[in-house]
Amino acid sequence: MHSPNRPITRRSFLSSTAATAGAAFAAGALPAAPAIAGAARVKVGLLLPYSGTYAMLGNAITDGLKLRLAEAGGKLGGREVEFVVVDSEMSVPKAPQNTSKLIGKEKVDFLVGPVHSGIAAAMARIVGAKGAPILIVPNAGSNAVTRQFCAPNIFRTSFSNWQPAYPGGKVMADDGHKTAVTIAWKYAAGIQMMQAGRTAFEKAGGKVIKDILVPFPSVEFQAYLSEIAALKPDAVYAFFSGGGAVKFVKDYAAAGLKDKIALYGPGFLTEGVSRAQGAAAEGVKTTLHYADNLDLPANKAFRAAYKKAYGKEANVFAVQGYDTGSLLLTAMEKVKGDTGATKEMIATMEAAKLKSPRGDISFSKAHNVVQDIYLRKVVKGEQQLVGVVARQLADPAQGCRLA
Ligand code: BEZ
Repeated sequence: MHSPNRPITRRSFLSSTAATAGAAFAAGALPAAPAIAGAARVKVGLLLPYSGTYAMLGNAITDGLKLRLAEAGGKLGGREVEFVVVDSEMSVPKAPQNTSKLIGKEKVDFLVGPVHSGIAAAMARIVGAKGAPILIVPNAGSNAVTRQFCAPNIFRTSFSNWQPAYPGGKVMADDGHKTAVTIAWKYAAGIQMMQAGRTAFEKAGGKVIKDILVPFPSVEFQAYLSEIAALKPDAVYAFFSGGGAVKFVKDYAAAGLKDKIALYGPGFLTEGVSRAQGAAAEGVKTTLHYADNLDLPANKAFRAAYKKAYGKEANVFAVQGYDTGSLLLTAMEKVKGDTGATKEMIATMEAAKLKSPRGDISFSKAHNVVQDIYLRKVVKGEQQLVGVVARQLADPAQGCRLA
């Protein structure tokens, strides 16, 4: 772990793993950009999971964010950057305390997080009520964050749970499936994605015969898989992510279901984990706002830079971190590093149009990302593009007073 005041190199800026609660470090020795004389470092608080089933997601977001800032010289609006990193431990009860600590004690200028929808709703209530600092959500899809809890100082660079899940239900019906079972972790993300997939499937003529909810973050799937085998649906629509997704997809194949009952889901089911899932993931079709082989200059450059920096393949979580970096850079460039200019930064972010590795993105009136949704298929461990299932899809944003 870096000491807060010790200069670090570009390489160590990229590769530091900020996994310890409350740890902080500065990006001191990165290539110089014109600094605002005497300005203190910009403090960016990260509340992300660095342990447990979503640790891979938190690390990829952090890596993507750091890569984007390093590409821009390691500064925001001409000022050095200090990250204050807190492991969310995926704990909803600890979320208010963690959020208040970053705002009150650490006095961060920006908040980035979380991954988990339950934590996002808790953070949004606190940050929205305060009006500052600006919170950028780089993963958690809680629909409420950009619906009833939407606020001027909350933006999301990832997705709402509805966005990647709804088009997936129609894909299942279009593939000729008439009946399905849904299975998901029992918390906001699982429930909202399951409902969105179910709604689209049934609208297209399909019938969901059972919704199965698994306690989060349990990976004891055997009893549920036996139930699915007995129900004999045409298809299964599943939400799991990270370590839990590795186990579910492997168990599904080991239970002999892979060649009998087609498996679908929002792309989190295989994203960033398809190599670990191996043969069990091959051929699984999912919908998401990213595919590894998108033929876009921004994606090719991003994937090459990410691989060079970290020695591994990028995934959607890294893309979301990278785009969070782009949004921060855009806002801070406009106000020349004046973190007090919240209103001007918000206006800049509302108007931002980014060339993301996932394609062109912008922000809705509710401050949720507007983006294409892709159908992908796992081929040799890669999320390969099959087609675009929704162009520039915006969340419906019901209940958001900004929209
Ligand atoms: C969520 O809790 O919002 C979430 C977690 C992992 C992947 C996707 C969504």
